[in-house]
Amino acid sequence: MLDCVLARRRAGRTFAGIMQESISGLAAEVAAADVSTAAALDQFRLLYLGRKGRLADLFDQLKTVPADERRAIGQQLNGLKQQAQARFDEAQAAVEAATANQPADAGFDYTLPAVPHALGTRHPLNLVREQMLRIFSRIGFAVAEGPEIEDDWHNFTALNFPENHPARDMQDTFFVPAVEGDTQPGLLRTHTSTVQVRVMENEPLPIRRVMPGRVYRNEAISARAHMLFHQVEGLYIDENVSFADLKQTIYYFVRELFGEDINIRFRPSYFPFTEPSAEIDITCLICKGAGCNICKGTGWVEIGGCGMVDPAVLENCGIDPEKYSGYAWGMGIERITMLKYQVKDLRLFTENDVRFLRQFEAL
Ligand code: DAH
Repeated sequence: MLDCVLARRRAGRTFAGIMQESISGLAAEVAAADVSTAAALDQFRLLYLGRKGRLADLFDQLKTVPADERRAIGQQLNGLKQQAQARFDEAQAAVEAATANQPADAGFDYTLPAVPHALGTRHPLNLVREQMLRIFSRIGFAVAEGPEIEDDWHNFTALNFPENHPARDMQDTFFVPAVEGDTQPGLLRTHTSTVQVRVMENEPLPIRRVMPGRVYRNEAISARAHMLFHQVEGLYIDENVSFADLKQTIYYFVRELFGEDINIRFRPSYFPFTEPSAEIDITCLICKGAGCNICKGTGWVEIGGCGMVDPAVLENCGIDPEKYSGYAWGMGIERITMLKYQVKDLRLFTENDVRFLRQFEAL
């Protein structure tokens, strides 16, 4: 553009004259341009009104006009700009009005059969998790959650697993590379007991929490074991909490979930983070206690572990064990779901076979 101005200038014309000519030329173009469709409007906007458009070009050249004429030429340019903008606005309104009146689905055949919506169902593990949380919420346990990628402290050390102690082998851990800023590798939590530590470290006393979540262990996948499963952890810390309180909580929970005629027993066990520790057994729901291959003939099946929180754990989490005591438990959601609905293979939970999942629709 500037080149051609210079050429004309060389031909002996004044800058103001050249500008005036350009303005009237452009005004004619603007008046004649096609603005009948949305695409044409877009073109128009880019070509004339845009920051790199023809009008902007002319505004740039204003500086070539001698100062005494610049004002008059500037006014003409502004006039042209308003004219172009007005043409655009008017045409845009017209195009919009025209398209608004057109049916969006012109050409659609309403007699075609509908495509059915495939509705999913809620996953049995979710259903059971929610039942469990609801039962505990009725006696004042609120939900807490924690991260699945954890560190050694929350998964082991704070929970009283001594360094290099074989108790750490109870759980085959998946380690993950250290993230930025960490000195140690991380790990996929092997149990939801990690969340106990986080809750004790961060929340005011007394504590009454249930902590559902996904956990990971390096196990070969089979009907009875999986590398990914779910637990519901529980924690109660207050003054004067006793094992009797723990037992009543578990009795209440099992009866609510499985019904009145289920027997419960606490079998002495060992966990580094509880003392004393117990495993919770209930009447085998398959044989009603008579003995079958699921309960290996004993009439009992295990649903989780529990115990009184070890004073060393309280201390690790900044709680005075002289003043406070508490109980905790951890239960497997898969295990409970299998017992409740007689599911015989753990792998069904992760295969997403709708024929399996549909069976829980009505529950
Ligand atoms: N964290 C244990 C596990 O995954 C289960 C457990 C046992 C949790 C006793 C507890 C507890 O809170 O008190 O095997």
